[in-house]
Amino acid sequence: MESISVGLLGLGTVGSGVVQIIDEHQDKLMHQVGCKVSVKKILVRTLSKDRNIYLNGSRLTDDPSDILNDPSIDVIIEVMGGIEHTRNYILQALQNKKHVITANKDLMAVHGSELLQVALENKCDLFYEASVAGGIPILRSLVEGLASDRIKKMMGIVNGTTNYILTKMSQEGREYGEVLHEAQDLGYAEADPTSDVEGLDAARKIAILGTLGFSMKVDLDDVSVSGISNVSKEDLEYCHQLGYTMKLIGIADRTEDKVEISVQPTLVPHSHPLAAVHNEFNAVYVYGEAVGETMFYGPGAGKLPTATAVVSDLVEVAKNMRLGVNGNSVILPQYSKKIKSDEE
Ligand code: NDP
Ligand code: HSE
Repeated sequence: MESISVGLLGLGTVGSGVVQIIDEHQDKLMHQVGCKVSVKKILVRTLSKDRNIYLNGSRLTDDPSDILNDPSIDVIIEVMGGIEHTRNYILQALQNKKHVITANKDLMAVHGSELLQVALENKCDLFYEASVAGGIPILRSLVEGLASDRIKKMMGIVNGTTNYILTKMSQEGREYGEVLHEAQDLGYAEADPTSDVEGLDAARKIAILGTLGFSMKVDLDDVSVSGISNVSKEDLEYCHQLGYTMKLIGIADRTEDKVEISVQPTLVPHSHPLAAVHNEFNAVYVYGEAVGETMFYGPGAGKLPTATAVVSDLVEVAKNMRLGVNGNSVILPQYSKKIKSDEE
């Protein structure tokens, strides 16, 4: 392989981070992959937009077919967001035998099983590490690091925006609306932040964690959800006086015969490790029957942490290309087993 050519869908917070890491970490990528990695074309919505990023050459297009039908592009990275149009683009990319990486939990929580099935049929990789908990490599930890164990429970802070809001409201006494705007300016929030503050973004992530951790298909409808939009700074002050910190917590709990999954504002004692997870940081507690308690912690949103997860997926795709084993990905077989058993 002389080089790997990437088509990038989206050049916002995460997309610009992906370009930056691929450009600046070329030596490390060369070492990992054994050839040059470059971003050949980039899809945006508005070509005329002023962009705070240096791009050599005119790589921008507003026509997805320029990328999806370019036979010289090996890998598509989808960081534009949205559900139906991204589903169509990814299906087209996979059918054109391009490997796909996405940070899109909205898409994967709803259409993940279909897309993974199509990837499998086309012997393509489809990785989505950045879709849950930004820079924390939680999906690979579940399906590789803890592959031999039976996961019984997962619990954590999986939305950076709401954790940022709750932190700033409780520690600095600031107003909800003002801090939400700040989280948007910092690039943590979704294009429509309703999904952050009403708990839907966390629900999508906990559905993905449940699907991978429990090796079963967890649908969004299985998750009971409430968010933080009605929480006042007075509520938070009152909690604090009683010895608690309020956090938006997602829980996926498996007992012998059922799985319970929810996202809700939860009072966490000050002494609990989750109470010390501040700002946009995330943490996921995983309890496995054999391993016992484990905890994963790190930045859950933002440009470079999220882009790190995306580009690490790209390294995996490139290694698989070198070995000729794409479509055999470690995340895929465990997930596809459930697809099979659904059909039985
Ligand atoms: P942004 O809104 O910052 O960027 C979106 C980019 O996609 C923009 O460049 C935009 O073009 C382009 N775009 C959007 N819709 C279209 C369209 N219909 N056609 C062509 N181009 C389009 O989003 P983020 O970078 O924040 O998020 C991207 C994805 O990553 C989302 O799925 C999000 O959930 C996920 N994610 C985000 C994280 C974060 O911290 N921000 C963390 C983890 C995952 P233009 O620039 O012209 O407007
Ligand atoms: N809006 C999301 C969050 C981005 O705040 O966690 C990371 O998935």
